[in-house]
Amino acid sequence: MSRPRTAPARLTLDAAFGIGSVHPRLYGSFIEHLGRCVYNGLYEPGHPDADQAGLRQDVLALIRELGVTTVRYPGGNFVSGYRWEDTVGPHEQRPVRLDLAWRSTETNRFGLGEFMDFCRKADIEPMMAVNLGTRGVEDAVRLLEYANHPGGTELSDRRIGHGAKEPYGIRMWCLGNEMDGPWQIGHKTAEEYGRLAAETARAMRMLQPDLELVACGSSGSDIATFGSWEATVLEAAYDQVDYVSLHTYYEEIDGDRDSFLASAVDMEHFIESVVATCDHVRARLKAGKRINLSFDEWNVWYQKRPNPHPVGDWQEAPRLLEDNYSVTDAVVFGSLIIALLRHADRVTSASLAQLVNVIAPIMTEPGGPAWRQTTFFPFAQASSYGRGRVLRVEVDGPTHTTAKFGEVPLLHATAVSDDDTGAVTLFAVNRSQSEALPLEVDLHGIDAHSLTEHLVLADADPDARNTLDQPERVTPHPATDTTVTGGVLRTELAPLSWNMIRLTRRP
Ligand code: AHR
Repeated sequence: MSRPRTAPARLTLDAAFGIGSVHPRLYGSFIEHLGRCVYNGLYEPGHPDADQAGLRQDVLALIRELGVTTVRYPGGNFVSGYRWEDTVGPHEQRPVRLDLAWRSTETNRFGLGEFMDFCRKADIEPMMAVNLGTRGVEDAVRLLEYANHPGGTELSDRRIGHGAKEPYGIRMWCLGNEMDGPWQIGHKTAEEYGRLAAETARAMRMLQPDLELVACGSSGSDIATFGSWEATVLEAAYDQVDYVSLHTYYEEIDGDRDSFLASAVDMEHFIESVVATCDHVRARLKAGKRINLSFDEWNVWYQKRPNPHPVGDWQEAPRLLEDNYSVTDAVVFGSLIIALLRHADRVTSASLAQLVNVIAPIMTEPGGPAWRQTTFFPFAQASSYGRGRVLRVEVDGPTHTTAKFGEVPLLHATAVSDDDTGAVTLFAVNRSQSEALPLEVDLHGIDAHSLTEHLVLADADPDARNTLDQPERVTPHPATDTTVTGGVLRTELAPLSWNMIRLTRRP
Protein backbone atom coordinates (compact mmCIF):
# COMPACT_ATOMS: atom_id res chain seq x y z
CA MET A 1 0.00 0.00 0.00
CA SER A 2 1.45 3.39 -0.93
CA ARG A 3 1.89 5.99 1.78
CA PRO A 4 -0.52 8.98 1.70
CA ARG A 5 1.27 11.96 0.21
CA THR A 6 1.71 15.10 2.29
CA ALA A 7 -0.25 17.99 0.78
CA PRO A 8 1.97 20.42 -1.11
CA ALA A 9 3.28 23.62 0.38
CA ARG A 10 2.74 26.57 -1.96
CA LEU A 11 4.22 30.01 -2.14
CA THR A 12 4.44 32.89 -4.59
CA LEU A 13 7.54 34.93 -5.27
CA ASP A 14 7.08 38.47 -6.50
CA ALA A 15 9.93 40.87 -7.18
CA ALA A 16 7.69 43.76 -6.10
CA PHE A 17 7.34 42.46 -2.56
CA GLY A 18 10.66 43.02 -0.85
CA ILE A 19 11.31 42.98 2.87
CA GLY A 20 14.68 44.70 2.82
CA SER A 21 18.24 44.35 1.65
CA VAL A 22 20.53 41.84 3.29
CA HIS A 23 23.27 43.71 5.11
CA PRO A 24 26.62 41.95 4.59
CA ARG A 25 27.04 42.00 8.37
CA LEU A 26 24.25 39.43 8.63
CA TYR A 27 26.92 36.85 7.85
CA GLY A 28 29.15 37.69 10.77
CA SER A 29 30.66 35.34 13.30
CA PHE A 30 32.35 35.46 16.68
CA ILE A 31 35.77 34.63 18.11
CA GLU A 32 36.04 34.49 21.87
CA HIS A 33 38.99 33.66 24.07
CA LEU A 34 37.22 30.49 25.09
CA GLY A 35 38.47 26.92 24.92
CA ARG A 36 40.23 26.25 21.62
CA CYS A 37 38.58 28.92 19.52
CA VAL A 38 41.74 31.03 19.37
CA TYR A 39 44.55 28.88 20.78
CA ASN A 40 44.97 25.53 19.05
CA GLY A 41 42.18 26.58 16.74
CA LEU A 42 42.61 29.65 14.60
CA TYR A 43 46.05 30.31 16.04
CA GLU A 44 48.58 27.53 16.37
CA PRO A 45 52.20 28.58 15.93
CA GLY A 46 54.24 25.55 14.90
CA HIS A 47 51.38 23.89 13.04
CA PRO A 48 52.56 22.83 9.54
CA ASP A 49 49.92 25.14 8.00
CA ALA A 50 50.59 28.13 10.26
CA ASP A 51 51.95 31.32 8.74
CA GLN A 52 54.66 33.38 10.42
CA ALA A 53 52.09 34.99 12.69
CA GLY A 54 50.83 31.58 13.85
CA LEU A 55 47.53 31.73 11.93
CA ARG A 56 46.54 28.42 10.38
CA GLN A 57 46.19 28.81 6.62
CA ASP A 58 43.91 25.80 6.34
CA VAL A 59 41.55 27.40 8.88
CA LEU A 60 41.74 30.76 7.11
CA ALA A 61 40.83 29.05 3.83
CA LEU A 62 37.76 27.49 5.46
CA ILE A 63 36.77 30.82 7.00
CA ARG A 64 36.93 32.41 3.54
CA GLU A 65 34.88 29.57 2.08
CA LEU A 66 32.34 30.01 4.87
CA GLY A 67 31.91 33.61 3.75
CA VAL A 68 32.21 35.31 7.11
CA THR A 69 31.96 39.09 6.82
CA THR A 70 32.45 40.41 10.36
CA VAL A 71 33.91 38.90 13.52
CA ARG A 72 32.93 39.93 17.03
CA TYR A 73 35.86 39.82 19.46
CA PRO A 74 37.15 39.08 22.18
CA GLY A 75 33.97 37.85 23.91
CA GLY A 76 31.46 36.83 25.12
CA ASN A 77 31.72 36.36 28.84
CA PHE A 78 35.49 36.73 28.49
CA VAL A 79 35.20 40.43 27.64
CA SER A 80 33.79 41.27 31.07
CA GLY A 81 37.25 40.69 32.56
CA TYR A 82 39.22 41.79 29.48
CA ARG A 83 42.36 43.86 29.96
CA TRP A 84 43.23 44.91 26.41
CA GLU A 85 46.60 46.41 27.36
CA ASP A 86 47.79 42.94 28.47
CA THR A 87 47.30 41.75 24.89
CA VAL A 88 49.47 44.21 22.99
CA GLY A 89 53.21 44.72 22.63
CA PRO A 90 56.05 42.20 22.72
CA HIS A 91 54.91 38.67 23.50
CA GLU A 92 57.47 38.14 26.23
CA GLN A 93 56.14 41.14 28.14
CA ARG A 94 52.51 40.05 28.09
CA PRO A 95 51.27 38.80 31.44
CA VAL A 96 49.65 35.42 31.96
CA ARG A 97 46.26 35.92 33.66
CA LEU A 98 43.37 33.93 35.03
CA ASP A 99 40.23 34.15 32.90
CA LEU A 100 37.42 34.00 35.46
CA ALA A 101 34.66 33.59 32.88
CA TRP A 102 35.88 30.20 31.63
CA ARG A 103 38.23 29.30 34.52
CA SER A 104 41.12 29.07 32.08
CA THR A 105 44.65 30.44 31.90
CA GLU A 106 45.04 33.23 29.38
CA THR A 107 48.56 33.64 28.01
CA ASN A 108 47.72 36.74 25.97
CA ARG A 109 49.91 35.52 23.15
CA PHE A 110 47.04 36.30 20.79
CA GLY A 111 45.85 39.84 21.30
CA LEU A 112 44.37 42.85 19.58
CA GLY A 113 47.18 43.18 17.01
CA GLU A 114 46.98 39.49 16.13
CA PHE A 115 43.21 39.76 15.79
CA MET A 116 43.52 42.72 13.43
CA ASP A 117 46.13 40.81 11.41
CA PHE A 118 43.66 37.92 11.17
CA CYS A 119 40.87 40.27 10.02
CA ARG A 120 43.09 41.74 7.34
CA LYS A 121 44.16 38.34 6.05
CA ALA A 122 40.63 36.93 6.07
CA ASP A 123 39.09 40.15 4.66
CA ILE A 124 36.81 40.44 7.67
CA GLU A 125 35.41 43.54 9.37
CA PRO A 126 36.27 43.59 13.08
CA MET A 127 33.49 44.10 15.61
CA MET A 128 35.14 44.88 18.91
CA ALA A 129 33.61 44.64 22.37
CA VAL A 130 34.60 46.81 25.34
CA ASN A 131 34.66 45.59 28.92
CA LEU A 132 31.74 47.07 30.85
CA GLY A 133 31.93 44.34 33.51
CA THR A 134 35.06 45.16 35.50
CA ARG A 135 35.85 48.35 33.60
CA GLY A 136 34.01 51.34 32.20
CA VAL A 137 34.03 54.64 30.33
CA GLU A 138 37.70 55.52 30.67
CA ASP A 139 38.97 52.12 29.61
CA ALA A 140 36.66 52.00 26.58
CA VAL A 141 37.95 55.37 25.40
CA ARG A 142 41.56 54.34 25.98
CA LEU A 143 41.09 51.21 23.90
CA LEU A 144 39.40 53.23 21.16
CA GLU A 145 42.25 55.74 21.18
CA TYR A 146 44.86 52.97 21.01
CA ALA A 147 43.03 51.30 18.13
CA ASN A 148 41.69 54.14 16.01
CA HIS A 149 43.52 57.41 16.68
CA PRO A 150 46.06 58.13 13.93
CA GLY A 151 48.97 59.09 16.21
CA GLY A 152 50.61 61.78 18.30
CA THR A 153 49.21 60.67 21.66
CA GLU A 154 50.64 58.27 24.21
CA LEU A 155 48.14 55.52 23.38
CA SER A 156 48.08 55.87 19.59
CA ASP A 157 51.88 56.10 19.53
CA ARG A 158 51.96 52.95 21.61
CA ARG A 159 50.06 51.15 18.84
CA ILE A 160 52.48 52.56 16.26
CA GLY A 161 55.37 51.40 18.46
CA HIS A 162 53.79 47.96 18.41
CA GLY A 163 54.10 47.90 14.63
CA ALA A 164 50.68 49.17 13.52
CA LYS A 165 51.38 52.49 11.84
CA GLU A 166 47.90 52.84 10.39
CA PRO A 167 44.93 53.14 12.74
CA TYR A 168 42.78 50.02 12.87
CA GLY A 169 39.63 51.93 11.93
CA ILE A 170 37.24 49.71 13.90
CA ARG A 171 33.72 51.07 13.28
CA MET A 172 31.49 48.69 15.17
CA TRP A 173 31.72 48.31 18.95
CA CYS A 174 29.69 46.29 21.44
CA LEU A 175 29.11 48.02 24.76
CA GLY A 176 29.83 45.01 26.97
CA ASN A 177 28.38 41.51 26.77
CA GLU A 178 25.23 39.98 28.29
CA MET A 179 25.17 42.47 31.13
CA ASP A 180 21.68 41.20 32.06
CA GLY A 181 23.07 37.76 32.97
CA PRO A 182 23.81 36.99 36.64
CA TRP A 183 26.71 34.81 35.38
CA GLN A 184 28.42 37.86 33.91
CA ILE A 185 31.41 39.38 35.71
CA GLY A 186 30.14 42.80 36.77
CA HIS A 187 26.49 41.93 36.02
CA LYS A 188 24.22 44.98 36.25
CA THR A 189 20.61 45.96 36.54
CA ALA A 190 19.02 47.47 33.44
CA GLU A 191 19.15 50.93 35.04
CA GLU A 192 22.83 50.60 35.93
CA TYR A 193 23.76 49.23 32.53
CA GLY A 194 21.61 51.67 30.53
CA ARG A 195 23.32 54.62 32.13
CA LEU A 196 26.81 53.12 31.75
CA ALA A 197 26.15 52.22 28.10
CA ALA A 198 24.91 55.75 27.38
CA GLU A 199 27.89 57.41 29.06
CA THR A 200 30.41 55.06 27.46
CA ALA A 201 28.86 55.62 24.05
CA ARG A 202 28.82 59.38 24.55
CA ALA A 203 32.50 59.44 25.46
CA MET A 204 33.51 57.10 22.63
CA ARG A 205 31.66 59.28 20.14
CA MET A 206 33.48 62.36 21.45
CA LEU A 207 36.62 60.67 20.16
CA GLN A 208 35.06 59.32 16.99
CA PRO A 209 31.51 60.39 16.05
CA ASP A 210 30.96 57.88 13.24
CA LEU A 211 31.15 54.74 15.38
CA GLU A 212 28.35 52.18 15.26
CA LEU A 213 27.50 51.09 18.78
CA VAL A 214 25.63 48.07 20.07
CA ALA A 215 23.88 48.10 23.45
CA CYS A 216 23.42 44.76 25.20
CA GLY A 217 19.91 43.42 24.92
CA SER A 218 18.81 40.20 26.57
CA SER A 219 20.82 36.98 26.73
CA GLY A 220 17.72 35.09 25.66
CA SER A 221 13.98 35.59 25.44
CA ASP A 222 13.53 33.22 28.39
CA ILE A 223 15.43 35.41 30.84
CA ALA A 224 13.14 37.01 33.45
CA THR A 225 14.06 40.61 32.57
CA PHE A 226 13.51 40.16 28.81
CA GLY A 227 11.47 43.00 27.37
CA SER A 228 11.77 45.35 30.31
CA TRP A 229 15.57 45.17 30.04
CA GLU A 230 15.55 46.44 26.44
CA ALA A 231 13.00 49.15 27.22
CA THR A 232 14.95 50.46 30.23
CA VAL A 233 18.33 50.35 28.50
CA LEU A 234 17.00 52.10 25.41
CA GLU A 235 15.21 54.77 27.45
CA ALA A 236 18.66 55.66 28.81
CA ALA A 237 20.80 55.15 25.72
CA TYR A 238 18.53 55.55 22.67
CA ASP A 239 20.28 58.58 21.18
CA GLN A 240 23.74 57.17 21.80
CA VAL A 241 23.44 53.69 20.29
CA ASP A 242 22.59 52.23 16.90
CA TYR A 243 21.86 48.61 17.73
CA VAL A 244 20.49 46.47 20.49
CA SER A 245 21.82 42.92 20.71
CA LEU A 246 20.01 39.57 20.92
CA HIS A 247 21.52 36.22 21.91
CA THR A 248 19.95 32.81 21.67
CA TYR A 249 20.94 29.14 21.56
CA TYR A 250 18.75 26.13 20.84
CA GLU A 251 19.10 22.44 21.59
CA GLU A 252 17.05 19.28 21.42
CA ILE A 253 15.69 18.55 24.89
CA ASP A 254 14.35 15.18 26.09
CA GLY A 255 14.21 13.81 22.55
CA ASP A 256 11.59 16.36 21.46
CA ARG A 257 12.94 16.71 17.94
CA ASP A 258 9.82 18.26 16.42
CA SER A 259 10.03 21.19 18.83
CA PHE A 260 13.75 21.50 18.22
CA LEU A 261 13.15 21.61 14.47
CA ALA A 262 10.73 24.48 15.06
CA SER A 263 13.26 26.57 17.05
CA ALA A 264 13.07 29.37 14.47
CA VAL A 265 9.46 30.01 15.56
CA ASP A 266 10.92 31.16 18.86
CA MET A 267 13.73 33.09 17.17
CA GLU A 268 11.30 35.00 14.94
CA HIS A 269 9.11 35.81 17.94
CA PHE A 270 12.19 37.02 19.81
CA ILE A 271 13.18 39.31 16.90
CA GLU A 272 9.66 40.68 16.48
CA SER A 273 9.39 41.37 20.22
CA VAL A 274 12.66 43.30 20.27
CA VAL A 275 11.65 45.28 17.18
CA ALA A 276 8.37 46.15 18.92
CA THR A 277 10.22 47.25 22.06
CA CYS A 278 12.67 49.40 20.10
CA ASP A 279 9.83 51.07 18.23
CA HIS A 280 7.83 51.55 21.43
CA VAL A 281 10.75 53.45 22.98
CA ARG A 282 11.20 55.37 19.73
CA ALA A 283 7.58 56.51 19.93
CA ARG A 284 7.84 57.40 23.62
CA LEU A 285 10.99 59.45 23.06
CA LYS A 286 9.64 60.96 19.83
CA ALA A 287 12.94 59.91 18.30
CA GLY A 288 13.64 60.02 14.58
CA LYS A 289 16.08 57.21 14.05
CA ARG A 290 15.30 53.52 14.33
CA ILE A 291 17.36 51.13 16.42
CA ASN A 292 18.37 48.04 14.48
CA LEU A 293 19.10 44.58 15.80
CA SER A 294 22.49 42.94 16.15
CA PHE A 295 21.80 39.23 16.66
CA ASP A 296 25.35 38.82 17.81
CA GLU A 297 25.16 35.33 19.30
CA TRP A 298 23.03 32.60 17.75
CA ASN A 299 23.50 28.89 17.21
CA VAL A 300 22.64 25.37 18.30
CA TRP A 301 24.40 24.66 21.61
CA TYR A 302 23.93 21.55 23.75
CA GLN A 303 24.14 23.16 27.17
CA LYS A 304 21.99 20.61 28.97
CA ARG A 305 23.82 17.47 27.85
CA PRO A 306 26.42 15.87 30.14
CA ASN A 307 29.61 17.75 29.39
CA PRO A 308 32.68 15.64 28.49
CA HIS A 309 34.89 18.69 29.08
CA PRO A 310 33.56 20.66 32.05
CA VAL A 311 34.71 24.21 32.67
CA GLY A 312 37.21 23.93 35.40
CA ASP A 313 40.78 23.91 36.44
CA TRP A 314 42.62 26.83 34.87
CA GLN A 315 44.03 24.96 31.89
CA GLU A 316 45.36 26.80 28.84
CA ALA A 317 43.00 26.38 25.87
CA PRO A 318 40.98 23.48 27.29
CA ARG A 319 38.47 21.64 25.13
CA LEU A 320 35.24 23.50 25.94
CA LEU A 321 31.87 23.62 24.17
CA GLU A 322 33.09 21.39 21.32
CA ASP A 323 29.66 20.33 20.10
CA ASN A 324 29.69 17.95 17.15
CA TYR A 325 26.74 18.84 14.94
CA SER A 326 24.41 16.39 13.24
CA VAL A 327 22.30 16.72 10.10
CA THR A 328 19.34 17.57 12.34
CA ASP A 329 21.36 20.35 13.98
CA ALA A 330 22.29 21.72 10.55
CA VAL A 331 18.64 21.79 9.46
CA VAL A 332 17.69 23.74 12.59
CA PHE A 333 20.71 25.97 12.05
CA GLY A 334 19.62 26.64 8.47
CA SER A 335 16.17 27.51 9.74
CA LEU A 336 17.75 30.05 12.10
CA ILE A 337 19.45 31.67 9.10
CA ILE A 338 16.07 31.77 7.35
CA ALA A 339 14.64 33.53 10.43
CA LEU A 340 17.39 36.16 10.27
CA LEU A 341 16.85 36.72 6.55
CA ARG A 342 13.09 37.01 6.99
CA HIS A 343 13.81 40.00 9.27
CA ALA A 344 16.64 41.52 7.25
CA ASP A 345 14.94 44.92 7.37
CA ARG A 346 15.80 45.21 11.08
CA VAL A 347 18.42 42.53 11.74
CA THR A 348 21.31 44.26 10.04
CA SER A 349 24.08 42.54 11.95
CA ALA A 350 24.43 38.99 13.25
CA SER A 351 27.24 36.81 14.58
CA LEU A 352 27.22 33.07 14.45
CA ALA A 353 28.64 31.97 17.82
CA GLN A 354 31.33 30.86 17.36
CA LEU A 355 33.79 30.31 14.49
CA VAL A 356 36.39 27.66 15.34
CA ASN A 357 36.13 24.63 17.67
CA VAL A 358 33.77 26.28 20.18
CA ILE A 359 30.17 25.53 19.06
CA ALA A 360 31.64 26.11 15.64
CA PRO A 361 31.22 25.28 11.95
CA ILE A 362 34.98 24.65 11.69
CA MET A 363 36.86 22.09 13.80
CA THR A 364 40.59 21.51 14.12
CA GLU A 365 43.00 19.12 15.74
CA PRO A 366 46.27 20.44 17.15
CA GLY A 367 48.98 19.50 14.68
CA GLY A 368 46.25 17.88 12.55
CA PRO A 369 43.57 18.77 10.02
CA ALA A 370 40.68 21.21 9.96
CA TRP A 371 37.23 20.19 8.73
CA ARG A 372 33.68 21.39 8.16
CA GLN A 373 30.86 20.55 10.54
CA THR A 374 27.37 20.00 9.10
CA THR A 375 26.42 23.55 10.05
CA PHE A 376 29.15 24.90 7.79
CA PHE A 377 27.08 24.26 4.67
CA PRO A 378 23.89 26.27 5.28
CA PHE A 379 25.98 29.24 6.41
CA ALA A 380 28.35 29.08 3.42
CA GLN A 381 25.48 28.74 0.96
CA ALA A 382 23.49 31.58 2.51
CA SER A 383 26.51 33.83 2.65
CA SER A 384 27.33 33.11 -1.01
CA TYR A 385 23.83 33.36 -2.46
CA GLY A 386 21.70 35.07 0.18
CA ARG A 387 22.78 38.52 -0.94
CA GLY A 388 20.47 41.17 -2.31
CA ARG A 389 16.81 41.82 -1.51
CA VAL A 390 14.80 39.48 0.68
CA LEU A 391 11.42 38.75 -0.90
CA ARG A 392 8.30 38.24 1.18
CA VAL A 393 7.45 34.56 1.44
CA GLU A 394 4.03 33.54 2.74
CA VAL A 395 3.61 29.80 2.88
CA ASP A 396 0.29 28.06 2.35
CA GLY A 397 0.85 24.46 3.32
CA PRO A 398 0.67 21.62 5.79
CA THR A 399 1.41 22.04 9.48
CA HIS A 400 2.05 19.73 12.38
CA THR A 401 1.77 20.07 16.13
CA THR A 402 4.81 20.45 18.36
CA ALA A 403 4.90 20.18 22.15
CA LYS A 404 6.66 23.50 22.61
CA PHE A 405 5.24 25.73 19.88
CA GLY A 406 1.86 24.20 19.05
CA GLU A 407 0.96 24.09 15.35
CA VAL A 408 3.84 25.04 13.07
CA PRO A 409 4.21 24.96 9.27
CA LEU A 410 6.31 22.10 7.91
CA LEU A 411 7.95 24.47 5.47
CA HIS A 412 10.15 27.32 6.66
CA ALA A 413 11.45 29.40 3.77
CA THR A 414 12.80 32.68 2.48
CA ALA A 415 13.96 33.98 -0.88
CA VAL A 416 16.64 36.49 -1.84
CA SER A 417 16.79 38.32 -5.15
CA ASP A 418 20.11 39.59 -6.42
CA ASP A 419 18.79 42.34 -8.67
CA ASP A 420 22.25 42.90 -10.21
CA THR A 421 22.72 39.37 -11.50
CA GLY A 422 19.08 38.36 -11.84
CA ALA A 423 19.61 35.38 -9.54
CA VAL A 424 16.89 34.42 -7.08
CA THR A 425 17.69 31.93 -4.33
CA LEU A 426 15.15 30.11 -2.23
CA PHE A 427 16.26 28.69 1.12
CA ALA A 428 13.86 26.13 2.54
CA VAL A 429 13.64 23.67 5.41
CA ASN A 430 11.28 20.71 5.62
CA ARG A 431 10.61 20.18 9.33
CA SER A 432 8.93 16.82 8.91
CA GLN A 433 11.09 13.99 10.18
CA SER A 434 9.34 11.35 8.13
CA GLU A 435 7.60 12.84 5.09
CA ALA A 436 8.90 14.41 1.92
CA LEU A 437 7.16 17.75 1.34
CA PRO A 438 5.93 18.59 -2.18
CA LEU A 439 6.63 22.25 -2.96
CA GLU A 440 5.12 24.46 -5.65
CA VAL A 441 6.46 27.96 -6.16
CA ASP A 442 4.68 30.43 -8.42
CA LEU A 443 7.48 32.32 -10.17
CA HIS A 444 5.46 34.57 -12.47
CA GLY A 445 6.19 37.63 -10.32
CA ILE A 446 9.94 37.18 -10.69
CA ASP A 447 9.91 35.93 -14.25
CA ALA A 448 12.34 33.13 -13.41
CA HIS A 449 12.91 30.88 -16.35
CA SER A 450 15.52 28.37 -15.34
CA LEU A 451 16.79 26.34 -12.45
CA THR A 452 20.48 26.82 -11.72
CA GLU A 453 20.77 24.18 -9.00
CA HIS A 454 18.97 22.62 -6.07
CA LEU A 455 21.29 21.46 -3.28
CA VAL A 456 20.04 19.45 -0.31
CA LEU A 457 21.44 18.68 3.10
CA ALA A 458 19.65 15.56 4.35
CA ASP A 459 20.63 12.03 5.23
CA ALA A 460 19.07 8.64 5.83
CA ASP A 461 20.63 9.01 9.28
CA PRO A 462 19.55 12.38 10.72
CA ASP A 463 22.18 11.98 13.44
CA ALA A 464 25.02 11.65 10.93
CA ARG A 465 27.87 14.09 11.50
CA ASN A 466 31.37 14.93 10.32
CA THR A 467 34.26 13.92 12.56
CA LEU A 468 38.04 13.80 12.55
CA ASP A 469 37.82 10.24 11.22
CA GLN A 470 35.03 10.96 8.74
CA PRO A 471 35.33 14.67 7.92
CA GLU A 472 33.17 14.43 4.80
CA ARG A 473 30.50 12.03 6.00
CA VAL A 474 27.86 14.74 5.46
CA THR A 475 27.93 17.16 2.51
CA PRO A 476 25.18 18.78 0.43
CA HIS A 477 24.12 16.90 -2.69
CA PRO A 478 22.12 17.89 -5.78
CA ALA A 479 18.41 17.15 -5.75
CA THR A 480 16.92 15.42 -8.75
CA ASP A 481 13.37 15.95 -10.00
CA THR A 482 13.19 19.71 -9.45
CA THR A 483 11.58 21.39 -12.44
CA VAL A 484 10.60 24.84 -13.63
CA THR A 485 7.84 24.83 -16.21
CA GLY A 486 5.22 27.38 -17.13
CA GLY A 487 6.45 29.74 -14.42
CA VAL A 488 6.05 27.18 -11.65
CA LEU A 489 8.80 25.43 -9.72
CA ARG A 490 7.92 21.95 -8.53
CA THR A 491 9.99 19.76 -6.26
CA GLU A 492 9.85 17.51 -3.24
CA LEU A 493 11.82 18.49 -0.18
CA ALA A 494 13.36 15.48 1.54
CA PRO A 495 12.28 14.78 5.13
CA LEU A 496 14.30 16.78 7.65
CA SER A 497 16.20 18.74 5.05
CA TRP A 498 17.87 22.06 4.32
CA ASN A 499 17.55 23.17 0.70
CA MET A 500 19.03 25.86 -1.48
CA ILE A 501 17.26 26.35 -4.82
CA ARG A 502 18.88 28.80 -7.21
CA LEU A 503 16.98 30.30 -10.11
CA THR A 504 17.82 32.66 -12.93
CA ARG A 505 15.50 35.46 -13.99
CA ARG A 506 15.05 36.60 -17.55
CA PRO A 507 17.57 39.33 -18.40
O1 AHR B 1 29.18 31.77 23.08
C1 AHR B 1 29.37 31.22 24.35
C2 AHR B 1 28.91 32.15 25.47
O2 AHR B 1 27.52 32.26 25.41
C3 AHR B 1 29.40 33.57 25.43
O3 AHR B 1 30.62 33.74 26.04
C4 AHR B 1 28.34 34.31 26.20
O4 AHR B 1 28.20 35.63 25.76
C5 AHR B 1 27.09 33.48 25.98
O5 AHR B 1 26.42 33.23 27.15
